[in-house]
Amino acid sequence: MQTSVFDCNILRLPKVYNKSGNITAINNQLEIPFKTKRVYYLYDIPGGESRGGHAHKELQQLIIAASGSFDIIIDDGMVKRTFHLSRPYTGLYLPSGLWRELDNFSSGSICLVLASLRYDENDYIRDYKSFKKYKSLNDS
Ligand code: TYD
Repeated sequence: MQTSVFDCNILRLPKVYNKSGNITAINNQLEIPFKTKRVYYLYDIPGGESRGGHAHKELQQLIIAASGSFDIIIDDGMVKRTFHLSRPYTGLYLPSGLWRELDNFSSGSICLVLASLRYDENDYIRDYKSFKKYKSLNDS
């Protein structure tokens, strides 16, 4: 995919304020530019751990710190950008074709992910050298 780190955006999601607790809703192709086929979440992440370390060929995602905070480092093979997520009403839109690492998880944090496709191991690129090769072939 011809995507760069500059195709990632922090999306500000609507917040329905209520003094007894807020609500954020995410609608397919309204707040996010894709149709969600899968929702998953990371939790019980031990201190000092990092996740990710892969890219996807087709998958698009929205990543939210539903609780706590963490950093996401995005890499397109040329440029890296780091995003800090710490609010349940902001999400990082992540198109396909980008390497990502997640780290600096706060204690008890929850990383909520909306994904455009079902889980498919064939969609992953898990080796960084293969990712660089994939980008150079697909970007030329
Ligand atoms: P992975 O996406 O590599 O995790 P992370 O990027 O958070 O480090 O997934 C780890 C394992 O979890 C993977 O090998 C299979 C399983 N898994 C599923 O079964 N379904 C899913 O939707 C996801 C995301 C992972």
